Amino acid sequence: MALRNAGRWGVGAVGAGVAALATWDLLQKKHTILRRYPVVGHLRYLMEDIRPELQQYFIERDWDGRPYSRDTRALIYERAKGVDEEKPYGTELDVNRIGHEHLVHSTTPLEAPDEPSRVMVGGPDCSRPYSMALLNVSAMSFGALSANAIRALNKGAALGGFAHDTGEGGLSPYHLEHGGDIVWEIGTGYFGARTDDGDFDPEMFRETASKDQVKTVSLKLSQGAKPGVGGVLPGAKVTQEIADTRRVPVGVKCVSPPSHKVFSTPTELIEFVARMRELAGGKPAGFKLCVGSRVDVLAICKAITEVGTAPDFIIVDGSEGGTGAAPLEFEDHVGMSLTEGLMTVHNALVGAGLRDTIRIGASGKVAGAGDLVKRLTQGADYTNAARAMMMAAGCIQAQRCHTDKCPSGVATQNARRARALDVEDKSERVHRYQRATVDEAMRLMAAMGVRDPAELTPAHLRRNESTTETRSYAEIYEWLAPGELLDQPPSTWARDWALASPDHFGGAR
Ligand SMILES: Cc1cc2nc3c(=O)[nH]c(=O)nc-3n(C[C@H](O)[C@H](O)[C@H](O)COP(=O)(O)O)c2cc1C
Repeated sequence: MALRNAGRWGVGAVGAGVAALATWDLLQKKHTILRRYPVVGHLRYLMEDIRPELQQYFIERDWDGRPYSRDTRALIYERAKGVDEEKPYGTELDVNRIGHEHLVHSTTPLEAPDEPSRVMVGGPDCSRPYSMALLNVSAMSFGALSANAIRALNKGAALGGFAHDTGEGGLSPYHLEHGGDIVWEIGTGYFGARTDDGDFDPEMFRETASKDQVKTVSLKLSQGAKPGVGGVLPGAKVTQEIADTRRVPVGVKCVSPPSHKVFSTPTELIEFVARMRELAGGKPAGFKLCVGSRVDVLAICKAITEVGTAPDFIIVDGSEGGTGAAPLEFEDHVGMSLTEGLMTVHNALVGAGLRDTIRIGASGKVAGAGDLVKRLTQGADYTNAARAMMMAAGCIQAQRCHTDKCPSGVATQNARRARALDVEDKSERVHRYQRATVDEAMRLMAAMGVRDPAELTPAHLRRNESTTETRSYAEIYEWLAPGELLDQPPSTWARDWALASPDHFGGAR
């Protein structure tokens, strides 16, 4: 009898303990997973803790095989949480591996400045230039992301003074609640600025672009994870608020075609970007692309010269870039990597004598300060991060964005899941992650003896070419001199330069 009573008390005590833990989990605001999955969610943290030990036993197994390794995720989470980053014992990377890259430090390093550098975006035809941070939130639409994720990213951007790109899904009320700087993107669907027939609506565009919070406007040509492919939002997902944001009818299938209606030639592209700038009251206007054909990039350069005005910025996205949903073959097999695309655009602009007025942004797995500085050495002026920012906002890389069952409430429209994401806490994390990464990039540059990011060159980045040879990017790749294409194109560029025409895009030739 006494034993049975003790058993009941024991069960009762465990039950009370579990109930107390569940209550605590539901009320705390730091961990989205625990708010969403009280009690059982602790298993995730337990697994996280014991995984390194397990890994010792199963060292041969690839535990990660996912876009972002465990180490990269840990780096992002720690920065987001403000955890001290110093690590004991030394690198775990194989620094002798072929393909391993390193930055060149100076024998006489500098002190890092107190304030991070910024870069002015806005060419001669732009009357309202924008001072861009070195790391910003890359384009991700409301629709792909939850309202709370958008709020957290935008509030983080407001706290840290960096820019938040809306993605092509329109400017939602959630982008506007916290006042963070906005890059307003439109894609082939012209969401937020479209007529009933899906054409571009200039007056609607003017109205939204005139909002003070919108700092620049961007035209998406293509995205690294799915270049050349459009998108469909099924009618069931076109809720009232998505419909209001995109300016499309509720419950009706919403299509982003693969191609733009507003231009079909390089000249028309440049004219349209200039029109966007004019409609935006002189704010910087540019476009984003994943590079496909070098001839087409050169054709755009010729069009810029012919039209006599330039985009204020070009954002180069790498084929390693992310998406909420894309066909696997497109993710894996289409488009240039960021390294190749970035160097192509940078070189083309330099060679065509256009680089001085056009800023280049770069996106594609920028997560740490090393990634950021590497992209600057390859020709970028600033960088954007999408998935790293999602992780700072609580994404655990469950890779279920396309199912609407995101466990962290970041990439879902399910209200119950999204509610678990605490905007206050996650905006602080986004802010801390961005700030710590940029500060670290400034420290790296100081160690490289560089005061201004513009001083970085391809000679600052070296790669193990073989087991016996390390060469710098300045040596491995060809870098054009300013105006070289106009004067005397080198033989390696002459054919593509000759093929490029401002009157048509040619694709692969
Ligand atoms: C969930 C999600 C949604 C995205 N939506 C857009 C979009 O609407 N427009 C766009 O230009 N790029 C979009 N992208 C691509 C990112 O802006 C970025 O270019 C790409 O993911 C590379 O950055 P990352 O490697 O830091 O993720 C999206 C990416 C993700 C992960």
